[in-house]
Amino acid sequence: MKTSFKKEIIANKFEAYNDILERTLGFRFVFQTFLSNPKITSVLDYGCGPGKVSHRLAKKTGINVFAVDESKEMINIATKKRHHPNINYHLIKNNHLSFLEDNSVGGAMACYVFINTEKKEQILKIMKEIYRVLRPGSLFVILDTNPDSTGIEFSTFQNGVKGKKYMSGEARQEWLHIKDEEDLILHDFHWPKSVYEELLTEAGFQEIDILEPTLKDIPCEELKMIQEKQPDHHWKNEWEFPPFAIYKSIKPIE
Ligand SMILES: C[S@@+](CC[C@H](N)C(=O)[O-])C[C@H]1O[C@@H](n2cnc3c(N)ncnc32)[C@H](O)[C@@H]1O
Repeated sequence: MKTSFKKEIIANKFEAYNDILERTLGFRFVFQTFLSNPKITSVLDYGCGPGKVSHRLAKKTGINVFAVDESKEMINIATKKRHHPNINYHLIKNNHLSFLEDNSVGGAMACYVFINTEKKEQILKIMKEIYRVLRPGSLFVILDTNPDSTGIEFSTFQNGVKGKKYMSGEARQEWLHIKDEEDLILHDFHWPKSVYEELLTEAGFQEIDILEPTLKDIPCEELKMIQEKQPDHHWKNEWEFPPFAIYKSIKPIE
């Protein structure tokens, strides 16, 4: 059974999670990808959750964000807490982006959505729908926990049981540590990197590139600044092992 982000208790707990590690080794690389192309004026955030990522992107870049999620609870948190003139939040059903026309959006991201998706067919369906709305030549960036870093204890989460080898599509637990609270246990699915490549290709995307940053890829000055702001936070295995994988791809110009 996958995690239901439609439950209020799960949505609120996810909102309470401090995503400092995702910001440091995940979102910054996703944003850099969009910022490296100044022509991008709009980005789809598929599975926006409580809107933290959309809000940071809109604030940092002025890009217009279409932020969509299938969970009403998540969209409620996002609209209440993270209103921004450049963000349009939408509740969607059955993976349809019916409010967006073909070839209309300048970029897209899906952060921690596919690890929450039980079937390969559904992942493919979502990728095809994202492909439909993207303009030819546009970037699609996926950010998920790294399937090669299961069982490693990171400072804020652990993805899978230590020492266990997971099969493609196998159910896998993830423990998100939340200050002064019990962990939020997510019921994810294990998708090897080859599955992302296979499905992206089947959906029509090309030029797939995978990034797996560790703290060694972050300038010292920036790490110092983060630690000054969050002195309670202590990095662990993220110096050696990449907690996340970032899959960049392009909808080709025909
Ligand atoms: C782990 S949360 C990540 C939220 C956000 N992207 C972030 O990084 O903070 C996953 C979100 O994806 C949404 N989601 C999962 N499958 C979806 C689907 N098929 N269509 C739309 N939203 C989906 C969930 O409701 C949830 O809000």
